Amino acid sequence: MQSAPVTKYRPFPPVALPDRQWPSRTLTHAPVWCSVDLRDGNQALAQPMSVAEKLEYFDLLVRVGFKEIEVGFPSASQIEFDFCRRLIEENRIPAGVAIQILCQCREDLITRSLEAVQGAKNVIFHLYNSTSPKQREYVFNAQRADIVRIATHAVGFLKEKMQPLVAAGTKLRLEYSPESFTSTELEFALEICEAVTDVWQPTAADKIILNLPATVEYATPNIHADQIEWMCRHLTRRAATLVSLHTHNDRGTGVAATELALLAGADRVEGTLFGNGERTGNLDIVTVALNLYTHGIHPGLDFGDINHLREVYERCTRLEVHPRHPYAGELVFTAFSGSHQDAIKKSWAAQKPGAPWDVLYIPIDPADVGRSYKAIIRINSQSGKGGVAYVLEHEFGYQLPKLMHKEIGRLINDLADAKGTELTPQEVHEVFRREYLDRAAPVALQRFRTTERDSAVKCEIAVTIDGTPHALNGTGNGPIAAFVSALGTTALPKFDVLSYAEHSLGTGAEARAVSYIQLKTDRGRTCYGAGIDTNIELASIKAVVSALNRALAK
Ligand code: KIV
Ligand code: ZN
Repeated sequence: MQSAPVTKYRPFPPVALPDRQWPSRTLTHAPVWCSVDLRDGNQALAQPMSVAEKLEYFDLLVRVGFKEIEVGFPSASQIEFDFCRRLIEENRIPAGVAIQILCQCREDLITRSLEAVQGAKNVIFHLYNSTSPKQREYVFNAQRADIVRIATHAVGFLKEKMQPLVAAGTKLRLEYSPESFTSTELEFALEICEAVTDVWQPTAADKIILNLPATVEYATPNIHADQIEWMCRHLTRRAATLVSLHTHNDRGTGVAATELALLAGADRVEGTLFGNGERTGNLDIVTVALNLYTHGIHPGLDFGDINHLREVYERCTRLEVHPRHPYAGELVFTAFSGSHQDAIKKSWAAQKPGAPWDVLYIPIDPADVGRSYKAIIRINSQSGKGGVAYVLEHEFGYQLPKLMHKEIGRLINDLADAKGTELTPQEVHEVFRREYLDRAAPVALQRFRTTERDSAVKCEIAVTIDGTPHALNGTGNGPIAAFVSALGTTALPKFDVLSYAEHSLGTGAEARAVSYIQLKTDRGRTCYGAGIDTNIELASIKAVVSALNRALAK
């Protein structure tokens, strides 16, 4: 990198718009969406989609709810042409869905593109030419007037040549893109858009789409918003125009640029699923749409099965959705940090059905995008006691007493530290079983039977202590107290039961009881134990044995 001062790069010039309105507006409704996956997205793939993949992808876009789908550049290649024909001839385009095709401002290409869309009911014919000063200078060696003439001539030619198609029943709308709009002088962008509109003569009922692309993202999102607001305010036939956005993501702010430009007055958004597109990609429509949704605005697109969307996307594009990708990534409904896990657990428990979504750290209900609640908390050495308790409760049904969380949390952290990897819920369960449920040394319970239940409970027990069998009797005000008094007749250290909790595990005939006992030894040590049995009394006796064995092991 160049050392400071950086002279190699220049700041992006701001837009003179002191009375800009967009910063104090809020979004209230969804824009018109147009997917450009099959054109802009596809042309950016190392291995473009096959026709079969494009067909599958098209069906997916339709199912999601896109009403405008750019299907390709049919004058550019036979495959693109054939794909367009198959969509039309095999009747794959549902009523209400418009196919959009891209075309350069050249007569031969316009003619070929019109052949490609013959017979379609609803077509957006997308013409573009590049307008920025650098493109004019380096690529076209043309003056502003030449660039305007290229566009207006193409629009006039299309208007004339499309007549037979329109007469045969095709509804054809025009989209015009001054490519590299955001790098073009605003007055010139306006001039060319006005000139194109003059030729097309749109009406409020049959609007022209003026698509204003950030072909390469060079500026901050506020400047993009200023550019769009400036255009919206200067277009003379604004009521007959749909202002469309087409951001790329070179600075990583394609989503922000789109959101601010919607505030600035744009009506329509072009982009792709998960942001596939040239270089750093096109705008990710999924993110913008779900951002709207989480502010209470229905996007009009259905991402209720985002895993399926991701699966088709990854298969057809041969690209992977990043694990941290908003809404869709593998890890976005997962919290590793203990404090986050704790907050999620508490706020999830407080979430009332039907109330506005208020779960901390998770801005969208995973169920709304078909993701599972169960994967939310995963355990590694950064996890806290709350996360461990959450996994044990949500995966296995144990509602551990609060004070027990610390004990089990410490054990799990030690294991995760030692392993240096994430622990699966099964591994967490295994530690819990080993530490609490399967403990049979030094004390192992052979038999427990109450013999009398009057004002006092009497019991007979058989235990082994360090392998030696003992047959004992005890009396207490309940079965646990009777069991403790029986053990008190041995050489085992004395202890008191401090607390007791139980609940059922599972439902119906399969249901078992789980008990949690906290005891305190005569040396002042407190310790939890847990036991499971179909018999609730036996579950608590087992929990006493578990706690005692743990205390003795320490
Ligand atoms: O990024 C771009 O400018 C384009 C145009 C063809 C709209 O894809
Ligand atoms: Zn593009």
